Amino acid sequence: MTPMVVIYHSGFGHTEQVALCVVNGANRVAGVQAQAMSVVDVDWEVLAAAEAIVFGAPVYMGSVSATFKQFMDDSSRTWFAQGWQDKVAAGFVNSGALSGDKQVALQQLQTFAGQHGMLWVNFALQPSGTGPTDLNRLGSYSGLMTQADNEAPEHTPPQGDRDTAEAFGQHIAERTVRWQRGAK
Ligand SMILES: Cc1cc2nc3c(=O)[nH]c(=O)nc-3n(C[C@H](O)[C@H](O)[C@H](O)COP(=O)(O)O)c2cc1C
Repeated sequence: MTPMVVIYHSGFGHTEQVALCVVNGANRVAGVQAQAMSVVDVDWEVLAAAEAIVFGAPVYMGSVSATFKQFMDDSSRTWFAQGWQDKVAAGFVNSGALSGDKQVALQQLQTFAGQHGMLWVNFALQPSGTGPTDLNRLGSYSGLMTQADNEAPEHTPPQGDRDTAEAFGQHIAERTVRWQRGAK
C-alpha cells in the first residue's frame, strides 16, 4: 500500500477542485491510496504515515495563501525531528491571472519541501497547446499550475487544467511507488 496525501488550502473552492483531481489521478495507480486533506483540518498522524505529500495552495498577493503558510509554520514541529525526510513531495498552485506570480508560490512550496528533506518530483508533461482544454497549457515543469476565472468552482479552472491535475497526480503516484519499491 502506498498512502499519499494531497494537502491544500482553498478560500473559495477553486484550489480544492484541483486537489480533488490530483487525488483522482493518483488513485489510478495500483496500490496507491490518495486522499485530500484541508490545511484547516490537519491530521498530522496521517501525514506522518504518507509515502508522498503533495502541497497545494492558491496564490494570494504573489505568495501561497496565509492559511497555507500557517500550516507550513505549524509543520516546524515535524521539521525539528525531520519527520518527513525522504518522503516524496510535489506541489501545485492556482491563481486568477494567467501568470499571477504562480512561480513564486511554487518555489515557496519547493523550498518548504527542501527544508523537510523531502524529494521534490517535477512534472514532465509537454503542453498540448495554450487553450482551456489543453494539457499543461501554462507550461509548468517544477510543479502543477492551474488558473481559475472569477466564477464558481464548478466551472473553473477549465477542463484542461483538471485533466492536467489528474495527469499530475498519476505522475507523482507512479514515481512514489517506484521510490518505495526501490527502498525495500
Ligand atoms: C487575497 C487574495 C489575493 C490574491 N492574489 C492573487 C495574485 O497575487 N495573483 C493572482 O493571479 N490571483 C490572485 N488572487 C486570485 C486567486 O488566486 C484566485 O481567485 C484563485 O482561484 C483562488 O483560489 P481558491 O478559490 O482556492 O481560494 C487573489 C485572491 C485573493 C482572495
